[in-house]
Amino acid sequence: MISWRKHYKKTLIAIGLLLSTSASIYGQDGDPKNGEKLFKANCTACHALDKQVVGPPLKGVVERVKTEGGVDKDWLHKWIKNNKELRASGDKYANEIFEKYNKTEMQVFPNLSDKDIDDILAYTTNPPAPEPATTDAAKDTAAAGTANAAPQSSTTTNIVIISLLAIAGLLVWILLKLRQLVKLGQSEELSGLNETRVRSFREIYEKYHYVGKALLAILAILAAYGVWNWLMWIGVYKGYKPEQPIYFSHKIHAGEQKIDCQLCHSSAKYGKVSEIPSMNVCMNCHRTISEYNADHYMEPGKDKAFYDGEIQKIYAATGWDAQKQQYTGKTQPVEWTRIHNMPDFVYFNHAQHVVAGEQAIINSFNKKNPNNKIDVVCKACHGKIDTMNVVQMANDFTMGWCIECHRTTEVDMNNGYNKEYFKNLHEKLKKQYPKDGGKITVDAIGGIECGKCHY
Ligand code: HEC
Ligand code: HEC
Ligand code: HEC
Ligand code: HEC
Ligand code: HEC
Ligand code: HEC
Repeated sequence: MISWRKHYKKTLIAIGLLLSTSASIYGQDGDPKNGEKLFKANCTACHALDKQVVGPPLKGVVERVKTEGGVDKDWLHKWIKNNKELRASGDKYANEIFEKYNKTEMQVFPNLSDKDIDDILAYTTNPPAPEPATTDAAKDTAAAGTANAAPQSSTTTNIVIISLLAIAGLLVWILLKLRQLVKLGQSEELSGLNETRVRSFREIYEKYHYVGKALLAILAILAAYGVWNWLMWIGVYKGYKPEQPIYFSHKIHAGEQKIDCQLCHSSAKYGKVSEIPSMNVCMNCHRTISEYNADHYMEPGKDKAFYDGEIQKIYAATGWDAQKQQYTGKTQPVEWTRIHNMPDFVYFNHAQHVVAGEQAIINSFNKKNPNNKIDVVCKACHGKIDTMNVVQMANDFTMGWCIECHRTTEVDMNNGYNKEYFKNLHEKLKKQYPKDGGKITVDAIGGIECGKCHY
């Protein structure tokens, strides 16, 4: 019984830890969702998250003001509520940034509560992934067609968390009951009361004991499942669709004008990355195309003047003087916002998929989506880019997404690359996987080994 009591303490501690870590993962200082609303209603006239508008970009501002100005959240509260008052009080950093931004006045927000401000700051610290797009974007996404529709990560995670919490709660309750019983048993033993009651306690104890153990086992399994789930669906950015410095439309270039993806993203064939084209590539065409004809396609809400202005930005960037038809030498680099971006510890190679895997991926995608076939391999992962005015992430780009496709895509063992590369392996694999009639999916050639995708 003594040993049980020891265990019980340890278990309680373990459950406590579990509860507190899950709370710290999922609980946050401020509600970023509400913060987003407030931010959009009050701040976007002058601020964006990632770029300077009238005021500085506000992503990660809590950290930034700490390093740049040595000030804390308290300062941010004062600044956001009433920056004038703060400046008037002689605050050094407040006056510094006011000078830095050419004495542009920021509006005062006396009506924002402390909680509102915490929410906004939570949003700037941790902007939630955009909602799976609505209206127009939703159509794009639907058209984009997900090769491997992933289960909605948030609902799965929520179910796991809720069941974990429920089970943990139950366990705590049972342990407390047990402790009462142990105490009861002890006092009865001490006072030497009748044995039958003690025996009946033993029986109960034994019963609960197994229930407790079973619950512990379930808890462990659920925890493992939760961790795995978290790994598989971490960092879902589907729908991410930032604004770009030039309003470059894929719908117009790749869709209307039918320009091949690889004319601009030529490096996809050769290696790891599939870069954004340099301005020189644009100039190959735009040296002569200085205006938008506007005769066949116009996005609602835009007009010819808008598109012409965007084309002018190419000239500004490359220093092209369209009148004199010569370069002035004054260039301005264009900083495209990167949309797809795997963490550093992931190895993803375009050539492997665009060259070696091309046919396999197209075939498999078209088999899974008979009503939404693709002609270009890129679309299996990036969706129907040629229908998007603004590029957005069409898939989850999580580990679960990569692995799901590797499990279900049959490799084309007869293409030039694999024929050579897997000469010997092929026969061996055919024998090893007879169950699928000799079908070999990417996982069979190592596509789900950790080392293949992680450095
Ligand atoms: C009318 C334009 C305007 C609006 C609206 C505005 N700001 Fe500002 N903000 C600025 C400018 C300009 C600065 C730069 C400092 C200066 O010139 O006073 C700034 C600076 C800041 C800073 C300091 C950043 C740093 O790098 O030190 C924070 C924080 C900030 N704003 C938050 C907000 C929040 C939150 C909102 C919405 C509730 C908001 N601002 C609304 C114009 C604005
Ligand atoms: C005329 C040149 C051009 C053509 C043709 C073109 N793109 Fe792009 N692509 C760009 C530029 C410029 C950007 C960066 C701006 C943006 O995101 O819209 C870009 C961005 C992208 C991105 C997002 C990159 C990131 O930051 O993660 C993807 C994915 C992409 N293109 C895929 C395609 C596919 C697929 C096709 C063919 C259907 C295609 N592109 C055709 C020029 C081109
Ligand atoms: C292969 C030729 C070609 C290349 C390369 C090319 N464009 Fe275009 N671009 C066109 C054509 C054609 C149009 C549409 C003209 C029309 O319909 O009147 C156009 C239209 C545009 C427009 C106005 C419509 C829109 O998309 O907003 C912009 C802006 C533009 N291009 C930017 C770029 C940039 C930036 C690059 C380099 C990354 C680039 N283009 C590369 C051919 C090209
Ligand atoms: C198997 C899925 C897959 C296919 C097929 C694919 N991509 Fe990608 N693409 C990705 C992933 C994953 C990333 C992010 C890579 C990173 O961050 O390292 C990416 C990133 C990009 C980028 C951003 C720049 C970069 O390299 O990180 C561009 C542009 C791009 N892809 C264009 C293309 C084009 C064009 C094609 C077709 C020729 C294509 N992709 C085919 C998965 C794919
Ligand atoms: C649309 C399906 C698809 C998606 C999504 C996909 N892959 Fe692949 N991948 C393939 C195919 C098909 C091959 C086999 C190519 C061949 O024939 O060699 C492959 C091969 C690979 C290989 C080489 C495996 C080996 O043993 O040589 C690596 C590494 C890889 N993929 C990484 C990734 C990563 C990382 C992601 C996610 C960011 C990803 N893939 C997403 C289809 C996909
Ligand atoms: C087919 C490619 C692929 C394989 C195989 C793969 N991973 Fe991953 N893994 C990824 C990608 C892609 C990400 C990044 C996902 C993101 O950032 O959304 C990732 C992320 C992770 C992370 C980081 C989660 C975080 O905190 O961001 C861990 C840990 C991890 N993988 C472990 C593993 C282990 C262990 C294995 C072997 C059982 C494995 N991976 C096999 C593609 C792969």
